[in-house]
Amino acid sequence: MSEDTLQKITALAKRRGIIYQNSEIYGGFSGFYDYGPVGVEMKNNLKSYWWKDIVDRRENVVGIDGAIITHPTVWEASGHIKGFADEVIECKKCHKRFRPEDIDGKCPNCKGTEFTKPRKYNMLFKTEVGVLEGEKVDAYLRGEACQTIYLNFKNVIDSTRQQIPFGIAQIGKAFRNEVTPNKLTFRTREFEQWDLQFFVHPDNMEKWYEYWKKERMEFYKTLYRKQDNLRYRQHPEDELAFYAKLAFDIEYKTPWGWAENEGIHWRADYDLTQHSKFSGKNLTYRDPKTQEKYFPWIVETSGGVDRTLFFLILDAYEEEKLENGKTRVVLKINKDIAAYKAAIFPLVNNKEEILNKARDIFNLLSENNKVVWDDRGNIGKRYRYQDEIGTPHCITIDYDSLKDNTVTVRDRDTMEQERVKIEDLESFIR
Ligand code: GAP
Repeated sequence: MSEDTLQKITALAKRRGIIYQNSEIYGGFSGFYDYGPVGVEMKNNLKSYWWKDIVDRRENVVGIDGAIITHPTVWEASGHIKGFADEVIECKKCHKRFRPEDIDGKCPNCKGTEFTKPRKYNMLFKTEVGVLEGEKVDAYLRGEACQTIYLNFKNVIDSTRQQIPFGIAQIGKAFRNEVTPNKLTFRTREFEQWDLQFFVHPDNMEKWYEYWKKERMEFYKTLYRKQDNLRYRQHPEDELAFYAKLAFDIEYKTPWGWAENEGIHWRADYDLTQHSKFSGKNLTYRDPKTQEKYFPWIVETSGGVDRTLFFLILDAYEEEKLENGKTRVVLKINKDIAAYKAAIFPLVNNKEEILNKARDIFNLLSENNKVVWDDRGNIGKRYRYQDEIGTPHCITIDYDSLKDNTVTVRDRDTMEQERVKIEDLESFIR
């Protein structure tokens, strides 16, 4: 897949209502994107796919939904105010700024070869809370979603039946003032993360780290089609945080090379000890059986929701040569993530009986499935639209449907069509 495909996907995302540039009528706002009618369905499906796997099917994981703004001291305790810095260099010719690792000797904008020395800058977004001048306090939009999990560790212990080992999961927004937001939603300034913080006894850290490392790879293997595009990358020692013994990324192979999809982090007791120190509150855990008191250690799995959806679209995008010489663009996206499970097509839009039958089918299927209606243009054009957004099935209601209560169901991937009884449709599309 080439860089050219990236441009095609960006165009497709806009053309079909998946992802729009934010504030486009004002010329856009770098690093911010909006999801359209198709994209929001995909993203919601993706989030519930993760939630089902991480929370619903496990007895030892619970979820929370924390606020985006927290007490400002949180970011001192976490180390973000001091250390959440990225490096920036400036091209001396065109004055554009870049991360040092994103240039290869030449400025990507003007091909200049002279740059300023790297400077550090903090990526946290600052805001003010309060009304009157002089009484306002500086606060920050959270730079990583996981901090609200640590803040609520004790609340969760005190308000649920969970005991260590157990996990707290969250899907939520994070904000980073990135120097070079790029490649659609790959690197943005506002994005969503899916995080699991799994709390364990220090003696069992290694075992649980290996467990989650494996589980998370299995998750991505069920999600993507091209499994050879997934790999682990172990962080070398000079990349590790001082408290981490190990760190692995799960990477996906993109048109521009391997890129991080999710990090599996060994956080030890760093977060809970820091928040204990800064808040003055005791965040140790007392084992109800042994009465042992200790700071739990944490295995973190932290991935990007927007980034995963973008990778899924890369993974699914195909251009297929048809027998008639034309090219079909199709998103062979995981059927659980597709915006709609089926599209309902009345063959014509001026025949009441056909429209009524099609509406009955729409009402029947929409009780348990997300389906979409299309009665515009010829059936070929309607197929093309649904292929481009990855709808697994197209259901056409025609004159025969009025006589024998069957419809034509066309499969997205094989393009094969078969007649299916209306009463069997629900189980067929499942
Ligand atoms: N709490 C740990 C943490 O935030 P991270 O590696 O900085 O770790 C986790 O971020 C994931 O969030 C990354 O693997 C990536 O998928 C996603 N992510 C990070 N920065 C991003 C950005 N600027 N735009 C989109 N996704 C981003």
